[in-house]
Amino acid sequence: MLISKLIPEMLHSSVESLGRTKKLTRVLIVETKWWHNAVVYQIYPRSFADANGDGIGDLAGIIGKLDYLQTLGINVIWLSPVFRSPMDDHGYDISDYCDIAPEFGTLAEMEALIAEAARRDIRILMDLVVNHTSDEHPWFIEARKSRDNPYRDYYIWRAPRTDGSAPDEQRSNFGGSAWEFDATTGEYFFHLFSKRQPDLNWANPQVQQEVHQMMNWWLDKGIGGFRMDVIDLIGKEVDRGITTNGPHLHQLLQEMNAATFGERDVLTVGETWGVTPEIARLYSEPARRELSMVFQFEHITLTWDQQDGKWTPRAFDLREFKGVIGKWQSALGDTGWNSLFWNNHDLPRAVSSYGDPGRYRVESAKMLATALHFLKGTPYIYQGEEIGMTNVRFESVEDYQDAESLGLYRERTLAGVSHEAMMEGIYANSRGNARTPMQWDASENAGFSHAEPWMKVNPNYREINVATALDDPGSILHHYRVLIRLRKERPVIVHGDYRPLFDEHPQLFAYERRLGDQRLVVINNFSGQPVALELPASLRGLAGESLVSNYGPRNVLGQHLTLQPYESFAIALDTQTT
Ligand code: GLC
Ligand code: CA
Repeated sequence: MLISKLIPEMLHSSVESLGRTKKLTRVLIVETKWWHNAVVYQIYPRSFADANGDGIGDLAGIIGKLDYLQTLGINVIWLSPVFRSPMDDHGYDISDYCDIAPEFGTLAEMEALIAEAARRDIRILMDLVVNHTSDEHPWFIEARKSRDNPYRDYYIWRAPRTDGSAPDEQRSNFGGSAWEFDATTGEYFFHLFSKRQPDLNWANPQVQQEVHQMMNWWLDKGIGGFRMDVIDLIGKEVDRGITTNGPHLHQLLQEMNAATFGERDVLTVGETWGVTPEIARLYSEPARRELSMVFQFEHITLTWDQQDGKWTPRAFDLREFKGVIGKWQSALGDTGWNSLFWNNHDLPRAVSSYGDPGRYRVESAKMLATALHFLKGTPYIYQGEEIGMTNVRFESVEDYQDAESLGLYRERTLAGVSHEAMMEGIYANSRGNARTPMQWDASENAGFSHAEPWMKVNPNYREINVATALDDPGSILHHYRVLIRLRKERPVIVHGDYRPLFDEHPQLFAYERRLGDQRLVVINNFSGQPVALELPASLRGLAGESLVSNYGPRNVLGQHLTLQPYESFAIALDTQTT
């Protein structure tokens, strides 16, 4: 058994001010994990880089960009699924967990990616999609053959009601019933996503063992851990209508931990839409031996209508947002761990949702990055975020190439929602916004591919691309490099306490971080309007080192503070002045 050690760590920090250098040393007892100060970069392989010119991103394409990722400074790649799959949900429908989809490459290339990444101190997180498989997985092909097939019980089957209709009213997340009738055996199977993604029956110990074996097979290949797709659904009790946070969830995770990664030094992060801070502690308190951390989405759903969900966007309210972030920062302040993110492959682009993708695109993208990267937790960057990629407005829903957008477009327009209203929802929140090809340069197809890409590129690639950003010292990309580096250098960013500032202010998101003598102040104007304010006595006159800013450097807090639109900065306070 792995003995978890309490590692006394000497934390050093040097604070420079007025030409003096003062060494601060403090002993902190924490169980340090490599992922505490790591920054994760998510790759959606289909849209990242196409090496063989078929219009689809691939593993060789990713290997070709590892130097770029190393320059950015990230430590981990979360790779969205690359397993063999009929791609009904672009790889979140897996037909062979131990092989690679031919359009992405081969197992040998996957091994090369793990090794090449390791040479650059980058670990690979595999996406573990085990709430469901593809309907083309051999288990399901067997299961649907007959009611007494040995694999039948790997999935969730129920008899029709007497009138032949589905067993109950449960709905799929992609629209329509969660039950699909299978004529061969005269029963319905359960699917919380598309009907080509049948849910696995986690009550079956054989399913648990198969998944554990597969996880160990990947761990033996030297991967850095797992991102666990919709993991909060696996403890479900379908007959009671319980899907999220089911009664078996935490036990299943503890068993998984013991049977697989518990003894290995890896990062595990669960996708948990239904999590509360209390539940997050269950997942991430080290003593419970479940996961390293989970993704919570409370700050994301603030821009969704409370009844209607993501297809009816709601205006962002900064005070609500601050309440949510503050709650999570303090709930997981001393035990458990937060993940920090603005976007992923299922969410719109951060700068479009929370910033200004037009006039202040660069300023607001940097502000968002600063606001997030100084929080306590592990930051995740989604491909293209580091260059401020934006949402896209395609005329047709088809161009978004997404099972969810298409399914819900059909369902909602049939139910009477107008095309225009639905398209507004799609422009704001379709997953396709995140999946347009990565913008590498200003050449044709944004340098993503020599062939026509599987999905249209965002027409703004001529201005917004990696090549331009690399050449410009004032780019968003360079700002991210600074933020990632600071997290490595300053333990206060990783371990410090979080204290909100200007809590009631409608435009400012500001906070302090403190660890022993180290003290940081982070101030972000979340609006396109300038802000002028009087500083309270507790902050007035403080000075220190300017760590990062998006206008000029800032190293003093005077009596008055005037901020430009979306201005944002962080100061490491000189403890002499505090
Ligand atoms: C998760 C994934 C999403 C996928 C769904 C079903 O939410 O992030 O992309 O469609 O699970 O696997
Ligand atoms: Ca390709």
